[in-house]
Amino acid sequence: MSEPARVNGAEVTFDEVTKIYETASSEDVHALDRVTLRIEPGSFVACVGPSGCGKSTLLSLLAGLTEVTEGDIYIDDTVVTKPHPKVGVVFQQDLLLYWRTILDNVLLPVEIKGLSRGKYVPRAMELLDQVGLGGFETKYPSELSGGMRQRVAICRALIQEPGLLLMDEPFGALDALTREQMLMDLQSMWMRLGNTVLFITHDIDEAVLLADRVLVMSPRPGRIDLDLMIDLPRPRYPGEVHELSGFVKSVREIRQVFEAKGILRARVEE
Ligand SMILES: Nc1ncnc2c1ncn2[C@@H]1O[C@H](COP(=O)(O)OP(=O)(O)OP(=O)(O)O)[C@@H](O)[C@H]1O
Ligand SMILES: [Mg+2]
Repeated sequence: MSEPARVNGAEVTFDEVTKIYETASSEDVHALDRVTLRIEPGSFVACVGPSGCGKSTLLSLLAGLTEVTEGDIYIDDTVVTKPHPKVGVVFQQDLLLYWRTILDNVLLPVEIKGLSRGKYVPRAMELLDQVGLGGFETKYPSELSGGMRQRVAICRALIQEPGLLLMDEPFGALDALTREQMLMDLQSMWMRLGNTVLFITHDIDEAVLLADRVLVMSPRPGRIDLDLMIDLPRPRYPGEVHELSGFVKSVREIRQVFEAKGILRARVEE
């Protein structure tokens, strides 16, 4: 199988970004509060935080799907006002189109951008093959399991080798074994491609396993409470990394932030 070329990872900058959702029926929701952040090109950054703290909002703003209330977001030197061509997104739900075959779902971004479909078919087949879905090209989403559909969604995000890959709890709905396999696949994809990844998760272990850097968010309005570098050798294997003292220390440091905020209780109350 041919190796895909390395891509230029995008640089991401958040400059004092605030997001307030205005709702007609109830009070406005202050989702993010003056978030300032710079993500190095080619780095793998994970973001963890309690439910409702603004993680999906952060991703949606960066994807150009939601407007900021205040502040600016840049991808490289461009202010984000709409979806950027360098960006691929994987959501928690697979969002496949049920009337299109698996292959046609993977090729959707290519068609939307008016690029030559024929040129991308071999790459789509190769990606499907890499995630264990070779032979499923002509099937429809309804014929696949949830885990298989999520793998298709990941192929769809990767078809154009995005300089910035945004993933919002992409493995939350998967069973434990498929999830572990996907974590490995994602890590090797990133090591090969060298793109920038922002990965959102509830799972502290998953964040420390994958990332160069973990951003820990506070409850709403979301801010970054801890910005932790994870300096562990790669490739990192799910079954082995737990034994490294650096892994244990990082997980503990993140848990302590949640414990201090009362999001995790440190001890059983007697
Ligand atoms: N379109 C919207 N309109 C109004 N409020 C919204 C909207 N989207 C999100 N919110 C609110 O903004 C806050 C942050 O939501 P967000 O989805 O970013 O949280 P999250 O950290 O991704 O949570 P989870 O971990 O449960 O997915 C929540 O209080 C949510 O109710
Ligand atoms: Mg979310």
